[in-house]
Amino acid sequence: MSKNQVLVTGGTGYIGSHTVVELQNQGYEVIIVDDLSNSEIEVVDRIEKITGKRPFFEELDLVNESGVEALFKKYPNIGSVIHFAAFKAVGESVKEPLKYYQNNICSLINLLNSMKKYKVENMVFSSSCTVYGQPEDLPVTESAKVQPAESPYGNTKQICEEILRDTVKAFPEIKAIALRYFNPVGAHSSALIGELPKGVPQNLVPFITQTAIGLRDQLSVFGDNYNTPDGSAIRDYIHVVDLAKAHIIAAERLLENKNEEGYEFFNLGTGTGSSVLEVINAFEKVNDIPVNYKIVDRREGDVEQIWADTTIANEILGWKAESGIDEMMESAWKWEQAIRKGNA
Ligand code: UD1
Repeated sequence: MSKNQVLVTGGTGYIGSHTVVELQNQGYEVIIVDDLSNSEIEVVDRIEKITGKRPFFEELDLVNESGVEALFKKYPNIGSVIHFAAFKAVGESVKEPLKYYQNNICSLINLLNSMKKYKVENMVFSSSCTVYGQPEDLPVTESAKVQPAESPYGNTKQICEEILRDTVKAFPEIKAIALRYFNPVGAHSSALIGELPKGVPQNLVPFITQTAIGLRDQLSVFGDNYNTPDGSAIRDYIHVVDLAKAHIIAAERLLENKNEEGYEFFNLGTGTGSSVLEVINAFEKVNDIPVNYKIVDRREGDVEQIWADTTIANEILGWKAESGIDEMMESAWKWEQAIRKGNA
């Protein structure tokens, strides 16, 4: 039997769940592993509702080395691993660095050790544009230099990329692609899966949707005195479904042995920057609902502006983001309403 299964770590999480849907839509058999520390088991039911197919599910903390080994032993037909599972709150990582280093780094090491042992050769890894810091030139290309991380979270992404680079070099049978995400937002068009932050959202779009629905009184816009056209900070927001699709392309590139270098990394964005105020305006306009906001001081550690040069991803992966900011805001709002109505 060929190794046609895909192991998706963090598969009940935000980007993971959307990727599982796309994988299943394309006929792949998926095993989700997740410790449910930041997601709900019901996501598995919702994935089944969307795709008509139930993925395998294993509840496991990937820091548990013997647990990871047992997983690979139980599923001998894993052909590739898409590794999302990680902590991602920038502020929390400053307060609890060891929690972040232990979780994000040990998980990757345990996976790679088991991949070596059980001859699973392909890994797609979730990285972030945070590795670039504030780049000197915009849009940012993959050849821009990696800057010292601003937070332990950001540092774990850099360290994990280095671990992958060294591992692939030492064990050429293993191949890896790191995908450097810009700002994933939006939700599946079914409104059955989406981003579900626990507690007060730290990211812009969930804060907008929760303010619009009345769960938060007011959105704070962090700074209007940046050196940008309207003074608010600029990011490259990308629809989570576009992002999910890139993972399947990356996994197939590995499966088909197309990545000659062994280790590769790609920027995943739309190539267009939007300011915080532009995002709020787009949300208000497309959904015809006001968002109560006020301008406050800049948030510590924020970069002024960053957006992606996506030429390499476009040309080498043959992938291009399709949705614009309006579709992102429309789907995010549909999802927020579905959650509050209890439909999700
Ligand atoms: C951050 C991380 C990124 C990580 C992502 C996911 C950095 C530099 N970036 O992205 O690596 O992958 O979170 O958690 O570490 N904003 C407001 N009001 C709010 C919230 C945000 O004005 O209530 C602004 C921010 O100042 C920023 C923009 O909205 O300009 C986007 O913020 P956010 O959604 O938190 O993402 P990043 O900080 O870009």
